Amino acid sequence: MAALIISITVIGIYAARVLTYANVAVRPVWAWWMYQHKALGFIVLVLVVIRAIWNVSRPRPALPAGTSRLHRLIVHVSVGSLYFLMFVVPIAGIGTAFYAHSLNKFFGLFEFYGPVARNVPTMAKFKLAHQITAYTMLGILVIHVSAALIHHFILKDYVLRRMLFTRRADRIGRSYAPLMRPDRAPRNRPGSGDG
Ligand code: HEM
Repeated sequence: MAALIISITVIGIYAARVLTYANVAVRPVWAWWMYQHKALGFIVLVLVVIRAIWNVSRPRPALPAGTSRLHRLIVHVSVGSLYFLMFVVPIAGIGTAFYAHSLNKFFGLFEFYGPVARNVPTMAKFKLAHQITAYTMLGILVIHVSAALIHHFILKDYVLRRMLFTRRADRIGRSYAPLMRPDRAPRNRPGSGDG
C-alpha cells in the first residue's frame, strides 16, 4: 500500500508540477498521467475501505513488550492519522476531478465523467484540500517507513516483518514477548536457539 501511495504521489507531482495543465504542448501527456493517477487513486480508496473492515473484524497485533507509553502514543497517532488521510486524500482528489468535470479513464476498461456540473470555485477548494492532505500524508508515510527500517536494522526486532507479513510474524511473535530476532534474543528464551 505504501509503495502504491508513493507512486501515485510521484505521478501527481510530475503531472501537476512538471508537465502542468497550463503547458498546452504537453497536455496529452499530462492527461495520460492524470488518468493513471486518478485510476490508481480510486483503487487506493477501495483498498482502504476493505482494509478498514478487515482491521475492525480482527484486532491489531500488540506492540512489542517494553514499548514506552510515549512510543505507543506516537505509533497510535501516526497510524490513526495515516488511515484518516488515506480516506480523505482520494476523496478530495475525486472532488477535484468531479467539479472540474474532467474525463476519468480506468486503464482502457471504461471511462466516465463525474456526476456534477463543472464548478471552478468548488473545484479549487477540493484541489487545495487534496494538495494539503496529500503532502501531509507523504510526510507521515516517510516517517512511518523510516521508523520501520530503524526497527529492522538498528533495534533488530520483528516490527517490520510483522508490518509486512502479519500472520507469519504473529506466529513468531507469540513465542517470546519482546519480538526479538533469534540472533538478538537473550539466551535460554524460547526461539533463542537454546530450547
Ligand atoms: C492516495 C491517493 C492520492 C494521492 C496520494 C494523490 C496525490 C496527489 C498529489 C501529490 C498531487 C499534486 C498536487 C500539486 O502539487 O498540485 C495530486 C494532484 C491531483 N490529483 Fe491526486 N492523489 C490521490 C488520489 C487522487 C484521486 C482518486 C483523484 C481523482 C479521481 C485525484 C485527482 C487529482 C487531481 C485532479 C490533481 C491536480 C492535477 C493538476 O493540477 O494538474 N487524486 N494528487
